[in-house]
Parts: sequence; structure tokens; C-alpha cells
Amino acid sequence: MATTVLSPISSPAIKAAHAFRDRFGRAAQAVALAPGRVNLIGEHVDYCGGFVLPMAIDRYTAIAVAPSADPTAVRVGSGMAEAVCSFTLSGGRGPIMAAPAWARYVLGVVQLMIEAGEGVTGFDAWIESNVPLGAGLSSSAALEVATATAVDALHGRAREPMQAAALCQRAEHAFAGVPCGIMDQAASASARAGHAVLLDCRSGDTEHVPLDGASAGVLIANTNVKHALSDGAYAKRRADCKRAAEALGVELLRDATPALVEDRRAALDGLAYRRARHVTAEIERTVRAAGHLRRGDWTSFGRCMDNSHASLRDDFEVSCTELDTMVDIAQQIGTTGGVYGSRMTGGGFGGCTVSLVQVEQADAITQQLHQAYESQTGITPDIFLTRPARGAHVLNLK
Ligand code: GLA
Repeated sequence: MATTVLSPISSPAIKAAHAFRDRFGRAAQAVALAPGRVNLIGEHVDYCGGFVLPMAIDRYTAIAVAPSADPTAVRVGSGMAEAVCSFTLSGGRGPIMAAPAWARYVLGVVQLMIEAGEGVTGFDAWIESNVPLGAGLSSSAALEVATATAVDALHGRAREPMQAAALCQRAEHAFAGVPCGIMDQAASASARAGHAVLLDCRSGDTEHVPLDGASAGVLIANTNVKHALSDGAYAKRRADCKRAAEALGVELLRDATPALVEDRRAALDGLAYRRARHVTAEIERTVRAAGHLRRGDWTSFGRCMDNSHASLRDDFEVSCTELDTMVDIAQQIGTTGGVYGSRMTGGGFGGCTVSLVQVEQADAITQQLHQAYESQTGITPDIFLTRPARGAHVLNLK
């Protein structure tokens, strides 16, 4: 009989609880967990009000928390940064903006709760994570959502997942300077194990679509090239889409269709046309892909992923050589070798690809991707099979 041994080292929750006790000299009251995400399809459409289809991955950020003796003081420590930051709850935004980036995510969420008139009393917190950092798997959203979940648990509050997502998105805008959409925080907050989330980014409605992981596997390949979402390219794409929507006479590109974009092509410059063509086609593709997923039609789903990548590369221009290389290798393996489809995932300019694969072929595919990518780029990738994991939740320790 096979037994699964859970290594304490591999579990961020256990690590966080241990480190909390070591560092603060008492037991944590609760550990909040929030996962990273991978987007299966629906890229660069969330801020256009479109449909996205992400899932949570089985990599988590854990925050162990307990109230502190001083109701006005917060101490936040991180195992990754190997540091502790101390703050006063009434200190306002100034000291938070001066804090290290990882602490700003945490304190930003807390500060927005305070500004919204939600009472927050002092606490200590320790963070551990096995979400790859800066890889486009939403380590920052996981940290924000874990924070909201932990602080709510401490105060005996419950928050709807989409409300938590909206709070965390605002924190990312205000304290990290990234004008992100709602997808990452929504996936981390609301995902269910064994399901992808079809999210309507305009209404906030979610549908949890089963993806059991037994017949089709989700393979993530980190190109190990770092993207910089805050370097302006992301904000530039948002601005391009806004301009295209205005020229088309719609509020959001969600309100346009590929046919409308063709009809009104004369109203758009070349760049706005290509941006609008990507967004409108990608929204339609995502709705279609969700249908394929409901029916377990992996081949058709995979074709949507391939087309999504081409559109992101050629029309939206957010791919890069390394992403294209990884995707090309996977697509060349093709359905005969067990790859249904492959695409870049997340904001782009590096980070990860996502491929839908036959589970029994996953090891062989991983090896082929690893070898070919390394020999073509000189960079060693990280490749792992993941499964749709559970969104944010709390482990009560007392
Ligand atoms: C980043 C953002 C998301 C989304 C994706 C692109 O991950 O945080 O809101 O816009 O890029 O789909």
C-alpha cells in the first residue's frame, strides 16, 4: 500500500507555525493559507471586463497569526526575507510605503481594512511560502489573500471570496503600484479543489468547472526569466485597451466582438486594432474553452490554448523568446506525444508556460521540455505537474 509522507519542511503551514513559535515565543492561534494560481486561458482580458479561466495551484503562502499584547502594534516576519518588520496600526500609509516590498503587501491589506473602518487590533504574523516568487504564478496575490484571510480569522470576521479579492486588488494598486486586474486575487480567494474558476471579470460571477486532474494534467514550466509587471509594459497594455475601447465607442473591450473590431477597423490605429483583436478573440476563446472543459474535450481545449498563445505573441505582444521557445517545444511534442495545448500564462515577458497534457505522459514530456529548452536557451527551467487546488482557508490551531 502506498503511503504519502508529508514532509514538515515542504508544508508552508507547518513551517509558519513553527517559525512563529520560535520567533515570538508563543503558539500561533491560526494559520491562513492562500494558493498561487495558473491561468489556463483568458489572458490580459480581466481588466477589459472579460472572462478568465484560472485555477489555484498546490503551492501556498501560509501566515501564522496571533493577537499581540499591545493592541496597536503589528510585527510581521517572513521566512523568505528572514526579517521582521514592526508597525503601529495608527501610523498611516507613510511608514508602509517605506517598508520592504513583501511587507507592503501585508500591511497594505491591513491599512485598507483600517481605512474602511474595520477594526484591526495588534497582532504578530509569520509568513512562509512555496509559491515560486516572481514567476507569474501570483505569489503577491497569494500573500495579499493570505493576509486578508489571517486578519479576518483573528477578528472572527468572514468575507466573501470576491470581496477579499477586491480588497487585495486595491492593496496591490495602492501599495505595490501594479494596476492589476482581479483575476489573480479572485483565483486565490475563491478556487475549489478539483475545479478551474470561470470568472466573469465584469460581474464578478464565478462558475467552478470540474477538472479532476486524472485524465488531463496541468504542467507548468517556469522559463526562469523574470518578468517585471510594474516596469510599465503592463500599464501600457491597459492604456492601449482603454484607448481601443474609446475608439470603438464601447465602455470596455468586453462590449466589443471580433466582428465589431473588423467593422470599425478604420477608427483604430494599427496597434489599437491588434490589441482589440486579441482581447475580443481571447474572451470568445475562453468561453468556448470552458465549454470544452465541461465536456472533457481536451483536444479542443488545447487548440484554444495554442491559439491564445499566438494571439498574445503577435497581437498583444507580451511574450518573449524564452516563452515562445518553451511553447514551441511543447506544441511540437503535440497530441501524439501527449500535449493537448500550450501557452504562456500570466502577465508575460517571462515567467511560466502552462500545458495541458496526458497525465501518463507527463514525466516524458517534462524531460523533453527540460532538455530542449535548456539546450536552446542555456537556461535551466523548473517544470512541475500541478492540480487544481483549494483556495484560501484557515487552519485553526486552538
Ligand atoms: C497579471 C495581472 C492579472 C492579469 C494577468 C494577465 O497576472 O495581475 O490581473 O491581468 O496579468 O492576464
